[in-house]
Amino acid sequence: RVPVILDVDTGVDDACALLFAARHPGLDLRAVTCVGGNASLADVTRNTMTVLDIADRADVPVAAGAARPLLEDPVDARHVHGADGMGDLGLSPSRRRPEARHAVELLRDELLAAAADGRPITLIPLAPMTNIALLLRTYPAVAEGIERIVFMGGAAASGNATASAEFNVFHDPEAAAIVLDACADLGIDLVMYGLDVFYEPMITLDEARALQSHPGNGVADLAGRLIEFGCRRFESDATTIGDAGAVCAVADPEGIGTVPLPIRVELTGRYTRGRTVVDHRDWSGDLAHDPHGQSDVVAEVALAIDGPRFARLWMDTMNAGPTP
Ligand code: BDR
Repeated sequence: RVPVILDVDTGVDDACALLFAARHPGLDLRAVTCVGGNASLADVTRNTMTVLDIADRADVPVAAGAARPLLEDPVDARHVHGADGMGDLGLSPSRRRPEARHAVELLRDELLAAAADGRPITLIPLAPMTNIALLLRTYPAVAEGIERIVFMGGAAASGNATASAEFNVFHDPEAAAIVLDACADLGIDLVMYGLDVFYEPMITLDEARALQSHPGNGVADLAGRLIEFGCRRFESDATTIGDAGAVCAVADPEGIGTVPLPIRVELTGRYTRGRTVVDHRDWSGDLAHDPHGQSDVVAEVALAIDGPRFARLWMDTMNAGPTP
């Protein structure tokens, strides 16, 4: 099983990702860390534990991390995710308490232990990367315990929060820039699962209703309700599994195609701040001539996925229910 840690801002589609990571038999979910983003840190942490309870995974440690971006004021996405940040489904909130440790300390402890065991962990940030930036700058030795980072964020083409920028990077551009730099410095492999592929694994409203028709399968029921919320929110008869696609890509790497490309985060542009500038030029020439050092940071950028394959994988995992 692939050991994974998710960093989330739960979030309707983060919830879809948590359900998948909690129940997919090929993944070993070691911990979940929370960050302010789609909703406040308190709401995100509560939502995260509620989802894990429903997935029968109260064993997974959950820690709260950064409540706000490094420099920016927080700007949530409740207009997309509902007032409680997770679709206003009226779920009973978890009674669990998060770890006393800060998210960065939980990540440090898990990753250093993984390094010592020789079983590095795949880190999957699905949110603004504030926690991950703080982690890599504070405890660079954790690099030994990271198999790779597969993050949902950015876009090689168009943004969503603005025409240029994807929400997670727009929310904390400095954090994303630090993570890209740190990965290059520390030799951590990086995969960007961005908006270029984000909308491809789609679930229909009919499928969402079918998920809710299995009495006793709380995972499928919640999955169906989350997707139904997304369909209604966008007045559509289908919606993406969103962040969950990045986790599918870890469970089923055959479904994703990436290209190694130089990438930087725009930090200063009035209309372009938070944009991931992906360099599609042919770099077979002399990289040393790059005036901005753009070529120093290279990510595997997802430019194609098999959307129906990931949608099917996610549905099958939800339908399999609470017993793996
Ligand atoms: C991202 O925005 C949020 O709404 C989702 O949770 C996802 O992480 C896509 O831009």
